[in-house]
Amino acid sequence: MHRVSLPPVGTAKAWREAARGFLAARVPPEQIIWGDHAAAPDLFGDASLPPAGGPVSVPRSFVTMAETVVWHSDPERFSRLYAFLWRLKDAPHLMTDRGDGDLAHLRQMEKNVRRCQHKMKAFVRFREIGAPDAPRRSFAAWFEPSHHTVEPTSDFFVRRFSDMDWRILTPDVSAIFEQGKLSFQEGHTKPDLPEDAGEALWITYFQNIFNPARLMVKAMQSEMPKKYWKNMPEAAFIPQMIADAPARARAMAEAAPTLPPARMAQVQAQLASHASAWDGPAEDLPKAIRACTRCPLHCHATQAVPGEGPAKADLMVVGEQPGDMEDLTGRPFVGPAGQMFDSIAAEVGLNRKAAYVTNAVKHFKFTPRGKRRIHQRPETSEIKHCRWWLDAEIAQVRPRLILAMGATAAQSLTGDGTRILARRGTVETLPDGLPVLITLHPSYLLRVPDPAVRDRATAQFRQDLLTAAGMIAQHASCSREDMPH
Ligand code: URA
Repeated sequence: MHRVSLPPVGTAKAWREAARGFLAARVPPEQIIWGDHAAAPDLFGDASLPPAGGPVSVPRSFVTMAETVVWHSDPERFSRLYAFLWRLKDAPHLMTDRGDGDLAHLRQMEKNVRRCQHKMKAFVRFREIGAPDAPRRSFAAWFEPSHHTVEPTSDFFVRRFSDMDWRILTPDVSAIFEQGKLSFQEGHTKPDLPEDAGEALWITYFQNIFNPARLMVKAMQSEMPKKYWKNMPEAAFIPQMIADAPARARAMAEAAPTLPPARMAQVQAQLASHASAWDGPAEDLPKAIRACTRCPLHCHATQAVPGEGPAKADLMVVGEQPGDMEDLTGRPFVGPAGQMFDSIAAEVGLNRKAAYVTNAVKHFKFTPRGKRRIHQRPETSEIKHCRWWLDAEIAQVRPRLILAMGATAAQSLTGDGTRILARRGTVETLPDGLPVLITLHPSYLLRVPDPAVRDRATAQFRQDLLTAAGMIAQHASCSREDMPH
């Protein structure tokens, strides 16, 4: 029996050399006890390596994987790697065998380590510890990684912070960078590090890049797991920022500018084409909308967002265009405006799931501002061009009533997007007899600065949804064939 105790620093190289020696001497996995420095010594183990036999070639892809897996915290990692390597020497194709359970396990370990390295790059927080008059600035950070990632990730920090001294202290191994030289030490206990001015700056930065309109708590916590929060100064502000998000999203919406449209010539050129109605099979419509490249709006949006709801619905709800969240998820009215609509609809007993919910324009039109995408209202020509899809949806859904929310929907459907405040609550009839109930857009309710005006607008919106619910209930008592289409 051979026993190998691998060092905490230089582990990858030590494992590689030991494994190569054992493999060359054809020592089977069951005759080796692998341990790291923390493992208890084995009284019966033989530390000496056997004499080298013939060299064995190993696929490069295994070496790359092993160089990552050795940093996993699982004590079994070395023996798992060697056992797989032992099989691999007679069956090199194993590296591409997706059904192999051992390989799948190693790949998962590799993924865990890479994820931990990623977290380390993102969440290490340095605090200044040097004297103000020292020739080089000096920083220290305390970090608690899930795997042994200090050594394999330290190059990243060397590249980033080569002109200062720094140390990353962890319970396992610490990285010390002094006078341009990197070294490693055994782990530390948590030190008392000073708060510094840089920390205040970091908190301010974090609060500023936080976009309340794009808040997705679950996604955020999966990106920044809670276990890292305790060593991140800005994390103390997260609960408050989550609580403040709805109000800040409202304020952002109020401040959102409408910028002049870009590339209108291209839009116009496209508008001249595609005159006839869409005539594919009904079930292909969402797919066809998603694939839309009929106007340049598709160039920047993530995806086109088709309507959603039953294939035949009594009520069709039409908004303006997908917002930021809708563009990312591919579903209409799932962001702040959608939530506003949902909650008021629920209050008045209007069942969103029974309605077909869509937009006048299928792509998100925006202008980038730093990391944010600022909504831009679609042009009349874009609204008209996208009516092609709305017509296809109307033809398929055959609603008994359309609820047009806001100026763009009203413009698309009736040709007139003006005087919405005066027209809201009224029903207009399309040339084919289809009634359109005009109402406000829910994002308007989120934007109105004056609370009294907002309350009044919200009450009007609620009233309009109630009217829609009443009209649908009334229609439901008639037979479908009685209704005009
Ligand atoms: N605003 C809209 O008009 N539609 C959406 O889908 C989302 C926000």
